[in-house]
Amino acid sequence: MAVIADRCPNIEVTVVDLNETRIAAWNDADLSKLPIYEPGLDEVVARTRGRNLHFSTDVVNAIASADIVFISVNTPTKTKGLGSGEASDLRWVEACARQVAECAKGHTIVVEKSTLPVRTAKTIQVILQAAQKCDSRDQQEKSFVVLSNPEFLAEGTAIKDLISPDRVLIGGEDAKAIKSLSKIYEQWVPKEKILCTNLWSSELSKLTANAFLAQRISSINAVAELCEVTGADVREVAKAIGTDSRIGQRFLNSGPGFGGSCFKKDILNLVYLCKHFGLHEVAQYWQNVVTLNNWQQTRIARLIVEKLFGTVTGKKLAVFGFAFKANTNDTREAPAISIAKDLLDEGAQLAIYDPKVNAKQISLDLNMPASSPPDAKAGPTRSALSGEGSWWSSQNINDAVNGADAVVILTEWSQFKELNWSEIAPLMRKPAWIFDARSVVDPNTVKLAGLKLWRVGDGT
Ligand code: UDX
Repeated sequence: MAVIADRCPNIEVTVVDLNETRIAAWNDADLSKLPIYEPGLDEVVARTRGRNLHFSTDVVNAIASADIVFISVNTPTKTKGLGSGEASDLRWVEACARQVAECAKGHTIVVEKSTLPVRTAKTIQVILQAAQKCDSRDQQEKSFVVLSNPEFLAEGTAIKDLISPDRVLIGGEDAKAIKSLSKIYEQWVPKEKILCTNLWSSELSKLTANAFLAQRISSINAVAELCEVTGADVREVAKAIGTDSRIGQRFLNSGPGFGGSCFKKDILNLVYLCKHFGLHEVAQYWQNVVTLNNWQQTRIARLIVEKLFGTVTGKKLAVFGFAFKANTNDTREAPAISIAKDLLDEGAQLAIYDPKVNAKQISLDLNMPASSPPDAKAGPTRSALSGEGSWWSSQNINDAVNGADAVVILTEWSQFKELNWSEIAPLMRKPAWIFDARSVVDPNTVKLAGLKLWRVGDGT
């Protein structure tokens, strides 16, 4: 919405939320306090806020005065009830649709921006139609059209993705409404990149795009494990297959498995949808993409334990990176969560360092309070000796590695590529290991510093 406001000074954009704290944060004069860390977003907000971009909790008036309403709420995977663990929880979408139905005035275009299971637009349409009233002269007081306009941006590159998208997708039946929405994007996106489809194709395309991308990652991670036992190198294999223009170079980085708010959720949604329509083989096919992803995380935790003489109990390990990818503070479904949990179960003492993720968030994700960092000179702590795992958030690299048996790199922050291993090595307990799940280190420098190295997909 900030980018729409930036590119279209003639359009008034109001972002509304019931959560007062969150709206206050979006209105904070200190732009470093915006609720989301996203490169370039602060500059866009600085240019537009108060001009034609507004953040407000006045949901009722914002809906009443809007020509177009974008529904952009959470659709997490259900944790209980029918479809638990697979289907999307649509309670917030429905609540939004009902509120739009009640508060809208005149003709309103309602746009599904949230990623939704296929045919959700129908539900929204039914709710809105029930509210279409007629006055005494039989003239409509309010009317609605529903369009689907899924978002394809990736976190960390969101502003760039929005400014020059590969495509904008608009699904719907009402030509006039489609034209109105298209006109907004046409202010900065070339017209040939704006694709119009029917509602269901648009909804399904979003799920399919994410499923294809996630499938590529599971495929390369499966190959990585094979590389490790055969003497091949997954980076070389990725380069070799990526030069085939039908395959392409992008999205072939083997790592600790995909995280983020979309991939797992959307595939599970697809699995649920397939099962609903009795397509069990198709459901199983997509389910395996998630199964392989979970395995990648489990096996990384296991091999760390194996390489450290079969036990990490009481050992200090430095975890570099907790976000699900670089350039974001988002930890949703981050591979670091399950890998750290497995290591904590084994009794490890984890010094976690991430340049953007705070201790409060890590504590929520691990479902465990932080311990205070042990005094390096005091020897093993009581909890270390008792075999219970513990963790704390390190403020800098040197504190994290001091006395550690291993460094585990789980997010590809650029600063990890520039680490001086010959300075780090003397701080660690020998034999010391570097577990590089993101292929960020230079293997020769690490080995020259006297450190042992495991790299994902490296069988050489
Ligand atoms: C994704 C889609 O890319 C985007 O189009 C959609 O709108 C939302 O979901 P996002 O989750 O923000 O975006 O990040 P993305 O860059 O796709 O990465 C997802 C996960 O895959 C991350 O954990 C990332 O580290 C991992 N990944 C990505 C790899 O392991 N290897 C790769 O080659 C690429």
